[in-house]
Amino acid sequence: MWAGYRGADAVTFDGIVRRVSTATLWERDNCTCPSCLHPSSHERLVMVADDGDGPHVPVPHGSAARADVAQVVPRTVATRESAMPVPTVEHSTLATDAGLERWLTALLESGVAIVTDTPNIDGEVVRLAELIGYARPTNFGTIFDVVSKPDPNSNAYTALGLEMHTDLPYYASPPDYQFLHAMQADATGGESLLVDGFAVAELLREDDPAAFELLCTWEVPFRFHDHDDDLRDTYPVLELRRDRVVGVRFNNGVRDVDWAAQGAAGEDFYAAYLSYWRMLREHGISIRLRAGEVLCFDNRRVLHGRSAFDPNSGRRHLQGCYVDRDMVQSRLRAVRQRRG
Ligand code: OGA
Ligand code: ZN
Ligand code: ZN
Repeated sequence: MWAGYRGADAVTFDGIVRRVSTATLWERDNCTCPSCLHPSSHERLVMVADDGDGPHVPVPHGSAARADVAQVVPRTVATRESAMPVPTVEHSTLATDAGLERWLTALLESGVAIVTDTPNIDGEVVRLAELIGYARPTNFGTIFDVVSKPDPNSNAYTALGLEMHTDLPYYASPPDYQFLHAMQADATGGESLLVDGFAVAELLREDDPAAFELLCTWEVPFRFHDHDDDLRDTYPVLELRRDRVVGVRFNNGVRDVDWAAQGAAGEDFYAAYLSYWRMLREHGISIRLRAGEVLCFDNRRVLHGRSAFDPNSGRRHLQGCYVDRDMVQSRLRAVRQRRG
C-alpha cells in the first residue's frame, strides 16, 4: 500500500509554497501521521506541501523529540587545570544496557575510555566494536595487529616511540573511534600517550589566536604510501564547524613534503604547528596498558602515541579497529530509548 511519494502528480514544485499558508506548509511537512510518515521506516511519504488526504492525526515519533537531534552527550573538555579523565569500564558490564550506556557516554563525553578484563583472544576487539556497529575497514584492513614486524608500512609496526598523532589524516573522513586491545603487554616501555586535542586547541586559541587561525586554514599535505596504496590529500590541522573545533589532523610521520612551506612563506606555519605540538606534549598523559585492556578513543579529538619499547624484553601485541561516531551516538540513543 505504501507506494512511496504520493505527491509527484498532485502538486508541482512551482506554486506549492505560495498556495498554502506558512503554518500549513510546516504542518504538512512535519506531519507524523501514518499517511505522511511511514509507520515502520519512519520515512516521509509526502512532498513538502502535499495536500494529501487526512486525517493527519500525529503519531509520537522519536525524531520529534527535538532536544535529541544534535549531540547526544555534550563533550567535557579538559582545561588548563584538569587533566583528561580516563574512565574505565569492566568488559563484563557491557552485556547490560546500563553498562553499555556508561561506556558510550564516557566515549562521547571524555573522548576516551578503557575497557578492562577483556578476553585476550584473537578478534575480540572487533566483537567489542560490534556492540556499537560494524568495524570500519581502512587501508590497514578491518582489524590490524600492532606488533614490531619486518618491512613495516607504518611506524606503528616497529618498536619506535610514536609522537602523539591522529590516525589516517590523509582520508577525507578519518575514522572516528579507535579501539586498541592490549593482548600482550610484557615488553619494557611502550607506555601509551594521550591528549585531548580539542582542549589544547582551545588553549592555543586563547594564547595565540593567529596561530590557531593558521592551523585552521593552512593545507597540510598528508600521504600514506606502500606497495598497494597511495593515499594523499591536504587538510588543515584543525577543522572548524560553526567556530567549534570538530576535528584534529596531526600526524608528523605521515605529513608529506610541504612545498608551500618553503622559505619565508612557511615561517608562520611552522611556528604555529610547533606551538600546538609543544602544548600537546605539555598536556599529554602517559598510561601503561595491561593485557586485557582496550583503549578506546575518539581519533578525531584525542591524539595518541607511545614510548619506544624493547622487543627483546617481552611480547607487545595490540589488536585494533575503528568505528564511526555516528554509530556510537546511535547506539546510545537506542539504549536510552530501551531503558526508557
Ligand atoms: C597505532 C598506534 C600505538 C601503540 O597503531 O595507530 O598509534 O601503542 N599504536 O602501539
Ligand atoms: Zn499527515
Ligand atoms: Zn596511531
